[in-house]
Amino acid sequence: MLRIVASRASRARGVAARLLNSSTSVTAPSIAETVTLRAFTTTALKSGALPIPTGAHGVNYHNANPEGGYSFFMPRQSLIGPGALKTAGNIVKSLNLKKAMIVTDEGLAKAGAVQPVLDMLAANGVEAIVFPGAKPNPTDENVADGLAMLKQHGCDFIVSYGGGSSHDCAKGIAIVATNGGRIHDYEGVDRSSKPILPLVSVNTTAGTASEMTRFCIITDSSRRVKMAIVDSAVTPTIAVDDPELMVKMPAALTAATGMDALTHAVEAYMSTISNPVTDASALHAMKLISAYLRTAVSNGKDARARDMMSYAQFLAGMAFNSASLGYVHAMAHQLGGFYNLPHGVCNAVLLPVIQDFNASAVPDRFVDVGEALGLGRLSAAEAPAAVVAAIRELSRDVGIPANLEALGVKPEDFDVLAENSLKDACGFTNPRPATKDEIVDLFRKAYEQGSSGQAMAASA
Ligand SMILES: NC(=O)c1ccc[n+]([C@@H]2O[C@H](COP(=O)([O-])OP(=O)(O)OC[C@H]3O[C@@H](n4cnc5c(N)ncnc54)[C@H](O)[C@@H]3O)[C@@H](O)[C@H]2O)c1
Ligand SMILES: [Fe+2]
Repeated sequence: MLRIVASRASRARGVAARLLNSSTSVTAPSIAETVTLRAFTTTALKSGALPIPTGAHGVNYHNANPEGGYSFFMPRQSLIGPGALKTAGNIVKSLNLKKAMIVTDEGLAKAGAVQPVLDMLAANGVEAIVFPGAKPNPTDENVADGLAMLKQHGCDFIVSYGGGSSHDCAKGIAIVATNGGRIHDYEGVDRSSKPILPLVSVNTTAGTASEMTRFCIITDSSRRVKMAIVDSAVTPTIAVDDPELMVKMPAALTAATGMDALTHAVEAYMSTISNPVTDASALHAMKLISAYLRTAVSNGKDARARDMMSYAQFLAGMAFNSASLGYVHAMAHQLGGFYNLPHGVCNAVLLPVIQDFNASAVPDRFVDVGEALGLGRLSAAEAPAAVVAAIRELSRDVGIPANLEALGVKPEDFDVLAENSLKDACGFTNPRPATKDEIVDLFRKAYEQGSSGQAMAASA
């Protein structure tokens, strides 16, 4: 058993190294290096060389520098704030692009929500067609349909409009359009060899941050598994986060997507390849989410809450885009692929259970997370339980269902779900490696939590 965990940990370190900086050959920090750095930092703190010990991160930086340094991935330009969509028009014009395919979902297309994008493009002399075929948890079939339409109409760039599903479907179409083959060929880390078609991602949820990440999550419909395509090439050219486009999100969608953003921030902070840049982004995202998510859910018209949640999800995206994620996402992807469940809800239900599991490996990090969530400065002994309780309370307050049972998940599927979770690249940077049996146990805990007497209100 120990050998299995050790070999998984070593494979995970290899993938973590590729996640860090795929263009150079790097080795991930070994446990010995990390321990040495920690020992050095502790000594420095005692000697007064580093003045303010703030939890595990801050000045007490815990992950060793990899050979070759860290990589950070961002769109060429990101537009954030009310009116950002208008500014995007000028940028599209300057890129000298001629014909767009707008990738969106059926609900947004039918509601006429795409009209402002069509107007913005027309005002800048750009032709456009609409592909409304990005389903929630988009599939390989959606990508193939979109690609056929793109080719038929000779479009030279893509605009994605919507939440993570529209952006991921667009990324999938854009990568296959220039690299050829099928979307399945790009599962894993940096499998493409050519740049994708130019992509302008206009975001309407807060959120997955897919409008600015190098992640593309597509369901393989025959395996019922979500493929994680992690490729710097799929980073959109331009990211647009205009909170005015997020105002009409219903409460349940605001809650689910906000908890997805919180999960990105927490998992990136706990990641084995986090660093001071991703830490700063993750902690500020947590502060904004704990301050504004409840208001955004209870009063969607609150412009300040929408604006701050738009920044929060972008900051969380900046964090996980470079630091990657952990078992919450690796496990949530299986639930999404198998049962077609909302991604943010799966994350919200799993988040406290997996952080409880992580606590024994990295208790110090919970001190900073607790502070960012407004719990004050707790000791490393107190912080993990308090953080887990605060996450549960926030989930309950915004109407997330109590457990996996309420989502219709079946315990007889835990075995295959656990097996596939361990293959998902997002789990390789979790701070505490798990065996398959431990993952099954985590699914069970998430299935049973809050089931007697303390059930949380189901989301609409
Ligand atoms: N690529 C990444 O970095 C990344 C990160 C996290 C999640 N994801 C993926 O993103 C997907 C989930 O995306 P999502 O949570 O943003 O939801 P979504 O894109 O699936 O949209 C869900 C529903 O919300 C509606 N909607 C979207 N914006 C709206 C608005 N402003 N007002 C009213 N309704 C609106 C849509 O019509 C749709 O019916 C999952 O497939 C997940 O795996 C990707
Ligand atoms: Fe996510």
